[in-house]
Amino acid sequence: MPVILRAPATAHHPGLLLRPWCDTDVAALVEAHRDPVLRRRVRRPIADARDARRWMARSRQGWAADRRFDFAVVEPQPHGGDRLVATVVVKEVLPGRAHAEVGYWTAAWARGRGVAPRAVEAVTGWAFARFAAAGLTRLELLHEVDNTASCRVAEKAGYLFEEVLPAREPFPHDGHRHVRRAPPRPSA
Ligand SMILES: CC(C)(COP(=O)(O)OP(=O)(O)OC[C@H]1O[C@@H](n2cnc3c(N)ncnc32)[C@H](O)[C@@H]1OP(=O)(O)O)[C@@H](O)C(=O)NCCC(=O)NCCS
Repeated sequence: MPVILRAPATAHHPGLLLRPWCDTDVAALVEAHRDPVLRRRVRRPIADARDARRWMARSRQGWAADRRFDFAVVEPQPHGGDRLVATVVVKEVLPGRAHAEVGYWTAAWARGRGVAPRAVEAVTGWAFARFAAAGLTRLELLHEVDNTASCRVAEKAGYLFEEVLPAREPFPHDGHRHVRRAPPRPSA
């Protein structure tokens, strides 16, 4: 069964659905990656449909290996279907390892609507519940210091600033590490 998560509506914007990527998302994924702001912030920008299909195949492998979980974030449309607004990922999940990482982007036209913080909140709750028994207690969120929009996402999603990180290829600026810890588990 595919994992489907929901994030609430705001006063002005509809609720969100988070689901695994599918082939019908190829065109919207390529379109989102045309944005130069997004291209500057991601490790491997997607150039065309072939690239997008390759990326989706890797994404399916991540799900199958129970290690990396890429979600397409969509707004359901009033007359059926949905529209891609963002992505959010939980990655580097390994059995017995206490930490993993979240990442995200929002399509240029959908920014400023609280999409990323709502999506991050949804996957955070899911990941802590799903991987509690595997020992996951801490999720990290990394961004470059000049990415103030991403820093705001971290704050709004309850990821506390922890430290400055040195710049690391392919990103030219130092970074911030933000962390959110799992809620305490009820004792048996
Ligand atoms: C960072 C990013 C994911 C934020 O997503 P979002 O869904 O727009 O998140 P929010 O709506 O909560 O906005 C966060 C901040 O973006 C800024 N912002 C607001 N409207 C904006 C707009 N129309 N365009 C760009 N940035 C905007 C504001 O600083 C806002 O903070 P505020 O709520 O305190 O005003 C998005 O800007 C993005 O995809 N950037 C490019 C890729 C990227 O940086 N990914 C993260 C890598 S670590």
